[in-house]
Amino acid sequence: MEVGLVALLRTAWIAATLPLLIASLPFSWLNPVHKTVLAFAKRGKTMSSSRRFTVPQKFFCHFYVLAVVWTTLLLVTTWMYAYKIVPMYVDPFLYPTFASRFTGGSHIISWRKSPSVPMGYRYSVWRSVFLLLLMEVQVVKRLIETIYVFKYSSTARMHIFGYLTGLFFYTAAPLSLCCNNFLEVYNFSVNGVAEFIVKGKKNAMQDLDFDSLEFISSFLKLGWLQWIGAALFFWGWIHQRRCHEILGSLREHSEQNVYVIPHGDWFKIVSSPHYLAEIVIYAGLVVASGGADLTIWLLFGFVVSNLVFAAAETHRWYLQKFKSYPRNRRAIIPFLY
Ligand SMILES: NC(=O)c1ccc[n+]([C@@H]2O[C@H](COP(=O)([O-])OP(=O)(O)OC[C@H]3O[C@@H](n4cnc5c(N)ncnc54)[C@H](OP(=O)(O)O)[C@@H]3O)[C@@H](O)[C@H]2O)c1
Repeated sequence: MEVGLVALLRTAWIAATLPLLIASLPFSWLNPVHKTVLAFAKRGKTMSSSRRFTVPQKFFCHFYVLAVVWTTLLLVTTWMYAYKIVPMYVDPFLYPTFASRFTGGSHIISWRKSPSVPMGYRYSVWRSVFLLLLMEVQVVKRLIETIYVFKYSSTARMHIFGYLTGLFFYTAAPLSLCCNNFLEVYNFSVNGVAEFIVKGKKNAMQDLDFDSLEFISSFLKLGWLQWIGAALFFWGWIHQRRCHEILGSLREHSEQNVYVIPHGDWFKIVSSPHYLAEIVIYAGLVVASGGADLTIWLLFGFVVSNLVFAAAETHRWYLQKFKSYPRNRRAIIPFLY
């Protein structure tokens, strides 16, 4: 199941990225592909007046409701699994075998802290928890922003295909961060629920020997790549928050459907700094993952190609709309593109 899930996710990311890459190639004979992909990808200010097969752009908040619920579920179950089954602090006096948990031969507590569980496996599970925690921080922020910061105009729409792509993205992205341990976490959760039903709430709670310090301090045993990745993630996260505040403030003193030139923060150098910041955020996740997971690289490849494509269109729109648009601004990559 796990290998199947990983293969499915990788195939999905490649299938979603390829049309964007092909449509971005600078060959005139690819114009029909470019136009088709653009028709599906356009939203908000870059979308034409046609409302066929579109939904309001404020439906973006559906993505983040889904993302928060799904990421929280994955985070809580993976974190519980990591804490109870493969903690970073091992007890040298307990020696039951790692395999016994798969054969169902012993109770959870009996193989908890077993030193026979390979350290590499423990790291990989705790890394997944770490990545899901970062993802949670991002999707909660985005949910708050779509509700309280952005002032979507009543005319802004997105193609229904773009809407479905967004729902796919926020299902597949958190899953990609923990797909290597998904089967174990799934079995652990199903067993936990079954145990809870059979034993009843009171007895099941008695089995929980919960050490909150250990629950959190296991992260301190992760490697330096995780912390560099987290620093990169928060660098992008902070700038995206600032750029979204700037975008949200543009309509405080003007009409709801009016577009103006944004200024400040990374808007000084690029037209879509919030997209650039999103790329930095996902680059942080790649680094924090250790950089050796192909599924996470493919997820990153989709994010980059999707946002570079959208940013190129946004930049063209700004240049056409405003004669006084700052000429030194690039589309998304400072000083280059
Ligand atoms: N991970 C991914 O693959 C992915 C994909 C898509 C988006 N995202 C993220 O989601 C966030 C939002 O993306 P988006 O495409 O919805 O951004 P957007 O099109 O720039 O719109 C964001 C909000 O700002 C308003 N706005 C934009 N430019 C404006 C201007 N010049 N004047 C006045 N208001 C302006 C929009 O108004 P209207 O309501 O009138 O449009 C909308 O309310 C971004 O940070 C992006 O990185 C991520």
